[in-house]
Amino acid sequence: MDFQLVKGTHDIINKEAKYYSAIESLFISLAEVYGYNEFRTPILEYSELFKRDKNDSSDMVRKQMYTFNDLSNRSLTLRPEGTASVARSIVNNKLYAESDYPIKAYYLGPVFRYERPKAGTYRQFLQFGVENIGIDSIHADVETIVLSFRALKMLGFENLKLKINCLGDAESRNNYKEALVKFFTPIIDKMCPDCKERLKLNPLRILDCKVPEDKELIKDAPKMSDYLNASSKTRFENTKKLLKEVGVPFEVDEGIVRGLDYYSHIVYEYEYISKSGLNVGALGGGGHYDNLIKEVGGPSLAGVGFAFGIERIYSLLKEDNILPNIDDSSDFMVMPVGEECIDRAFIVADYLRMLGYKADSVIEKKSFKAMFRKAEKHNAKFAIIIGDNELKNNEVIIKDMHTQEQTAVKNKDLGDYVDNLFINEEHECHCHDHECSGEEHECCCGGHHGKK
Ligand code: HAM
Repeated sequence: MDFQLVKGTHDIINKEAKYYSAIESLFISLAEVYGYNEFRTPILEYSELFKRDKNDSSDMVRKQMYTFNDLSNRSLTLRPEGTASVARSIVNNKLYAESDYPIKAYYLGPVFRYERPKAGTYRQFLQFGVENIGIDSIHADVETIVLSFRALKMLGFENLKLKINCLGDAESRNNYKEALVKFFTPIIDKMCPDCKERLKLNPLRILDCKVPEDKELIKDAPKMSDYLNASSKTRFENTKKLLKEVGVPFEVDEGIVRGLDYYSHIVYEYEYISKSGLNVGALGGGGHYDNLIKEVGGPSLAGVGFAFGIERIYSLLKEDNILPNIDDSSDFMVMPVGEECIDRAFIVADYLRMLGYKADSVIEKKSFKAMFRKAEKHNAKFAIIIGDNELKNNEVIIKDMHTQEQTAVKNKDLGDYVDNLFINEEHECHCHDHECSGEEHECCCGGHHGKK
């Protein structure tokens, strides 16, 4: 039987996984610099968490969720986003009661949407996101934008476009929705079936329609900016001013309405087109929400956040040849010359690992040539050769893979010798018996560790 990947899913393996980790680590460290704490919430949630409102108009909730009954007949959903789960977690753990506001969460993990797979669009994909909850302020809104903007810039995206829009408060949106209903009702029969439904559920969603003929009709629709009440307008003006002051360039795009129902006030998305013209859709997006925490059973607290799609970010970095540097090298490949040396090679590799070096040994009979090919494939800086003579003399031969220089080193001197080879490099102690101080020291595992 031929086992295929589930449509819309993909493996992330070997070198590619290293690039993903490098991207994710950058996001995590920046979020931590901004004072966000990690939230790891379950992938499985009760479906009602996402189907809070039977009139929800988002495609995500209406058409794209992986929902099924478990063996006890409970309806469960594989999370289609992280925001609702973070909101639920804050409410379930009563963080709103004890926390010093805002509550700042970041998360990373797989989310699931039944979308039509294409470049940059999967059915299981990774999101990194942050939520800033508890203080209804443009400073919280702008902080999430600055954080997301700087994260993408630090990855090397040059011609990044940040598009922002203001959906206003509930009063402004209701007035605008009324104007949209008035505008679209006479022409709705010319539009796609989805738009017909959107008109009933949430006419704002029509603005997001991707059908080319509909897009033409949408061009003449009323503009949100004409329906913002005074306080929403002032808030948006102040948000733009603060963004300028912190040096984040943006453009206002009234077409950005976002695909989820919970937003109000500022919403934003990142667009990036590769040098060759590849556009895989928004790299990330987010916005402000007023009612989500209340909708999941908590107090009335505002929030704001964004999520990035890691696959889209990776694919565009790759396309433009700007993937982050990853350490794809290893320190040592230990090579037994003959079967009787395999045990010693294995023990030496383990000793080096305990000293904190990346080491591997060959554990099957291989020719010299094949072992060197393996060392090259692993980008090993040094080969350690152990043959009958070395076994007899209690020594190893260390060969610098770059200069080809070879030195015989007594087993008892091996730790000091290899530490000297890496004299300017920092390495970590992997001995689990104690907390390694990071300072230079003789370790209980017999090794010599730390910064020199
Ligand atoms: P979203 O715009 O639905 O927002 O998703 C965020 C990002 O996830 C998108 O910009 C895109 O990069 C990525 N993404 C979405 N769908 C796919 C897909 N099928 N395949 C690959 N990548 C995809 C949210 O999820 C909100 N929860 C963001 C947020 C946080 N708003 C407030 N806080």
